[in-house]
Amino acid sequence: MLNDLEVLERLVPVAGRDVVDVGCGGGALVRALAARGARMTGVEISEEQLAAAVRDDDRGGAQYAVGMGQQLPLPDGSVDVVVFMRTLHHVPIEEMGNALGEARRVLRPAGVVYVAEPLAEGDFFTLTSVVEDEREVRAAAQRTLADAAAARLERAEPFEYDARVCLAGVQALRARVVSVDPARAPLFDERADELASLFARLGEPGPRADERCFMVPMRADVLTPAPAVSAT
Ligand SMILES: C[S@@+](CC[C@H](N)C(=O)[O-])C[C@H]1O[C@@H](n2cnc3c(N)ncnc32)[C@H](O)[C@@H]1O
Repeated sequence: MLNDLEVLERLVPVAGRDVVDVGCGGGALVRALAARGARMTGVEISEEQLAAAVRDDDRGGAQYAVGMGQQLPLPDGSVDVVVFMRTLHHVPIEEMGNALGEARRVLRPAGVVYVAEPLAEGDFFTLTSVVEDEREVRAAAQRTLADAAAARLERAEPFEYDARVCLAGVQALRARVVSVDPARAPLFDERADELASLFARLGEPGPRADERCFMVPMRADVLTPAPAVSAT
């Protein structure tokens, strides 16, 4: 089994390159890639999440900016790798194509856009669907990737893998689900009993006593600038 970071490293070299993590959340991937020699920028729509990323960056050196994938706060041609790790399906559907267009705009000619998206299947999807059904947005993200040519990007063969999420109890699940969107908190609390029973039933015991682990089927895409079409 491979984790998100191992797949990313396998598909895209990052050491010595300028990498932007779009929707960086609490900054775990920014820190991991910086430790592997990337010059990192974390972009995040939520000021609260970004503040946590800045606070937890004990190594320093990474840049952070509040911003949206569909309107990146970065100059043209300034980045080697743009990463969307579980972020594209959170961009409003009508803006997903613009988010890929923005990634293309900020990319250097030999750059790469890396998009890892959870698929609408597996135990963790069943569990979190109680709070929010993401089928439509996840399908829209896949359609956007299939139409990468509209953003002048060329899509390689996708790479599928199973990630695993291990959580120490229902409160850890709540924290994870709500961190993406605070509006989910009352939805979670309304259905807390159902979530607790599913949490106990789905997945499998984790390495720690109170932990359960859930499979998250993922699809990773590597997109590169499409060759310019010359006029004849
Ligand atoms: C599922 S979380 C993933 C966080 C992180 N990339 C990870 O893999 O742990 C999605 C993140 O995207 C952020 N987000 C939502 N809409 C966004 C947008 N339009 N532009 C940039 N980030 C966005 C959310 O605030 C959240 O931090």
